[in-house]
Amino acid sequence: MSAAPAERDEAWRREAVLGNYAERPLPTPPPVVRIWSYADRLSYAPGDILRLSVCTNAARHAVEIVHDGVSPRTVFRTEDLPGAWRDTPDDCSVNGCGWPVSLEVPVGADWPSGGYIIRTSAREDGRGEDMHEHFFIVRPKPGGDRRGRILLVAATATWTAYNDWGGSNHYQGFCGSAGDRFSPVLSILRPLARGFVSLPPDAPRAVLTDHPPIMAEPRYPHMEWAYANGYSKKYMSSGWASFERHFVLWAEREGYALDIISQTDLHQQPDLLEGYACVALVGHDEYWSWEMRDAIDAYAERGGRIARFAGNFMWQIRLEEEGRRQVCYKYLARAEDPLMQSGPRHLVTESWEAPEIGRPGAASFGLNATHGLYASWSGCSPRGAKGFPVYRPGHWAFAGTGLYYGDVLGASARIFGYEVDGLPYEIRGGLPFPADPSRVPDGLEILALGLSATIEEGPTIVPGRSFLGVEDGEYVASVLTGRSDAAAVEATKRGSGMIVHFPRGRGEVFHAGTCDWIMGLTLRDEMVMQVTRNVLNRFLG
Ligand SMILES: [Fe+2]
Repeated sequence: MSAAPAERDEAWRREAVLGNYAERPLPTPPPVVRIWSYADRLSYAPGDILRLSVCTNAARHAVEIVHDGVSPRTVFRTEDLPGAWRDTPDDCSVNGCGWPVSLEVPVGADWPSGGYIIRTSAREDGRGEDMHEHFFIVRPKPGGDRRGRILLVAATATWTAYNDWGGSNHYQGFCGSAGDRFSPVLSILRPLARGFVSLPPDAPRAVLTDHPPIMAEPRYPHMEWAYANGYSKKYMSSGWASFERHFVLWAEREGYALDIISQTDLHQQPDLLEGYACVALVGHDEYWSWEMRDAIDAYAERGGRIARFAGNFMWQIRLEEEGRRQVCYKYLARAEDPLMQSGPRHLVTESWEAPEIGRPGAASFGLNATHGLYASWSGCSPRGAKGFPVYRPGHWAFAGTGLYYGDVLGASARIFGYEVDGLPYEIRGGLPFPADPSRVPDGLEILALGLSATIEEGPTIVPGRSFLGVEDGEYVASVLTGRSDAAAVEATKRGSGMIVHFPRGRGEVFHAGTCDWIMGLTLRDEMVMQVTRNVLNRFLG
């Protein structure tokens, strides 16, 4: 076990926060046993064939598949499979590992829709042991009565964006002419990084547990923990273990019937939404395609109810190669996304609020990422409320909570952060209203509102040492104003995080725009659970 972060020196801590220590393929087999695997898709229908690729330097290995839940259940196990070391290209994050298929697993016709862990493991006398976890979703079977069931759309595009196995993701990497840039293109044909599938319960979250002391420079307990313990730097940014799993376990304990699909399913098969009265989205849900938005918007228009307990609805992506390749140029889009030249421009992979796209996130979910962003960590309100200040406690969503005007919802479970979605607003008579009602859905009500920021700045921020810096603040300014100078940043850097509700067509949308809402469920905050039940029960009818 590692030394406590406090015992590490400053250079170590800087590497934990600013370095790229993603797991990279090894050019030659190491002396100790190692194993990794990946599946050929993010999700399967019952009856499909899952194709598993494994790389190990052990002579034999085992594969176990577990349906995750309150009581995890093994649905497949095989031992004593022959192992093989695979050469892995340096650009595997971008183009996939290219390992041959080691094992074909029939997805059982009786496997319920849900989240499944693939555990590959190997051990050899004198060479130690290793275990890797990958993950897939089983979609619901066609047919059947779905009206009483929740359909959870897992934020798999965000998982892909943050997965740093191979060295590159949509944040850091070894791409670009100098080999030091994030990758705008990512393959799903690579292992999930450590911590995306399961985590010890004491793994720190990004939202800070304690208020930093007087005049303290920002610290990042989750990244220090990742670096000290050999986990992905992004374990707390994305993945089943940090987000969706919390909701699925809570819903199961509460007695909700729940099915799961991936975002790629939503993109490719929008008819999977048919028959569900309520679609849920949870956690860190940052990357969507145009087609996914078409699917969810049409669902609401025809009477679907959307419960989004999630934050950071930020970037448009494109999916290619039947969903195995994800494209997002982000900050580089205007300069490098080929669609900026060739069109169609509305599919350029940048912020939804960019004028080229013309489809602000608020049109679907009531809130925009660019009017929210960071809260409760780093140099962005690290001593903030950590919950949602409530402005309209009389709304049906708060029934049975006893909340009053000015109360803070979910502070003890620290549900507010680490990224939140908001709107420009004005306060009249002590109540918040959208600053420009023409830019939000008709009938949108702001129920709760906290503060966020696009930039960290203050007396204890040392440029070049803090994690967030100015890049996001300048990018948001450029999207919202066309400029990224100091005046534009000043005009756009103060955001919000909101809970909103609005009718949409024949349906409706409830949106608590924060990544860590699910911590109110896992830590059993009575009021967060009650609000969640109020929304789900109403939407399920
Ligand atoms: Fe994010």
